[in-house]
Amino acid sequence: MAQYLILTTVLALLSFAQAQCGSGSPHATVTGSGNSFTAARGSSTMYTGSDYRAAIQAALDSISSGQRVAVMASGSIGANTISISSGKIFEGCGTINVGNKAGRGAIESLNTQGVQIPYLTMTGNPYFGLRFYGTRDLSLGKITMNLSGGLGIRFDRDNPANSNVKMDVINVTGAGSHAVETWNIDGLNINQVIARDVGESGLLLQKTTNAWVGLVDGNNVATGTGYATFRMANNNGQNPNGNYNTNVYIDKVVSRGGGRGVFCVSQSGGVVIENVDLANNGNNAILIENCYNVSIRGGTVNGGGEVRLAARTEFPNNRDIWITLTVNNNSVRESPCGENTNWTLTGNAQKSIC
Ligand SMILES: *[C@@H]1O[C@H](CO)[C@@H](O)[C@H](O)[C@H]1NC(C)=O
Ligand SMILES: *[C@@H]1O[C@H](CO)[C@@H](O)[C@H](O)[C@H]1NC(C)=O
Ligand SMILES: *[C@@H]1O[C@H](CO)[C@@H](O)[C@H](O)[C@H]1NC(C)=O
Ligand SMILES: *[C@@H]1O[C@H](CO)[C@@H](O)[C@H](O)[C@H]1NC(C)=O
Ligand SMILES: *[C@@H]1O[C@H](CO)[C@@H](O)[C@H](O)[C@H]1NC(C)=O
Repeated sequence: MAQYLILTTVLALLSFAQAQCGSGSPHATVTGSGNSFTAARGSSTMYTGSDYRAAIQAALDSISSGQRVAVMASGSIGANTISISSGKIFEGCGTINVGNKAGRGAIESLNTQGVQIPYLTMTGNPYFGLRFYGTRDLSLGKITMNLSGGLGIRFDRDNPANSNVKMDVINVTGAGSHAVETWNIDGLNINQVIARDVGESGLLLQKTTNAWVGLVDGNNVATGTGYATFRMANNNGQNPNGNYNTNVYIDKVVSRGGGRGVFCVSQSGGVVIENVDLANNGNNAILIENCYNVSIRGGTVNGGGEVRLAARTEFPNNRDIWITLTVNNNSVRESPCGENTNWTLTGNAQKSIC
């Protein structure tokens, strides 16, 4: 028994040690500070000089698929792009400050397989902090962005699609646009998106299918805009055969203040949201507009803009919207009447539903 306890303790300590950015024996490292950086692989020096970006890229270019780079140094890459090719593991342990390169990511991985970014801390004002397309088996871990503008993580619209994307905890503060914006992903698994003081959406899913998200938590997200802590748009959740059988599962959405809380629009759906906790949203706490097979299975709305089912004429009306919800200090309105709407409402909200 005692031996077993010691063994499990040792194993626990080992797994703890590996759960640190840069721990163990990375195949390549970037060290230094100020205007002196070194990229090394084993005893070979790949780069030494004042250019932080060049040091990082040299380290990345020195490893092969399946190997790992740990960037221990903090510095600024300026308005430039770091590129990660297939199978490489990138750990940003220092703070990587970035600039704005139009249309580009500060860090990109394009048309790749099996890239992992277990840790990253980014500051600055990027066009896109991280940019992806054409990825397969991409894995993002603990990603912290404390930005002064820009968009956090973006999967491109007009480029090849992605499959099997995983994210652990994505924590974005201060983005001017969205914290996380996806297009064209089949197979997405996110534990948490935490968005604070973000200009547009916390999590925006578009043309994304077979998704699961544990938590989207927004505070002061989308203030003064029509965006939302959690937004689904542009045929999100529509299966390749055109139907809307449920394939997007969201455990919880929390939103305080900001613009909208939950927003489904432009022929999206196939979604179950298990629970919401929305308060004092500056725009609709919930807006569902031309969406199909959307369930909200429980939770509360307190105050904020009205809970609304609406429709624009350009797309077919809402259908198969099932909502079980407690709404207080607010109103609930369905206009026009959807097809097969099922409300189970409690709370003191004024109701104008069909
Ligand atoms: C985020 O960055 C700003 C500077 O842009 C800094 O003032 C603030 O302390 C940082 N916040 C955290 C929590 O690190
Ligand atoms: C998110 O990141 C900020 C720094 O930008 C930090 O202060 C905050 O504690 C983080 N929140 C979570 C939930 O990790
Ligand atoms: C909604 O999704 C559920 C679960 O996949 C499915 O059983 C149901 O048929 C769908 N409803 C419609 C009308 O698409
Ligand atoms: C309505 O809002 C007030 C003020 O925010 C709050 O004290 C009260 O608990 C809310 N009512 C309900 C039923 O939640
Ligand atoms: C409406 O939803 C409730 C709660 O999910 C369910 O019990 C009920 O059967 C549904 N009503 C119809 C007509 O489908």
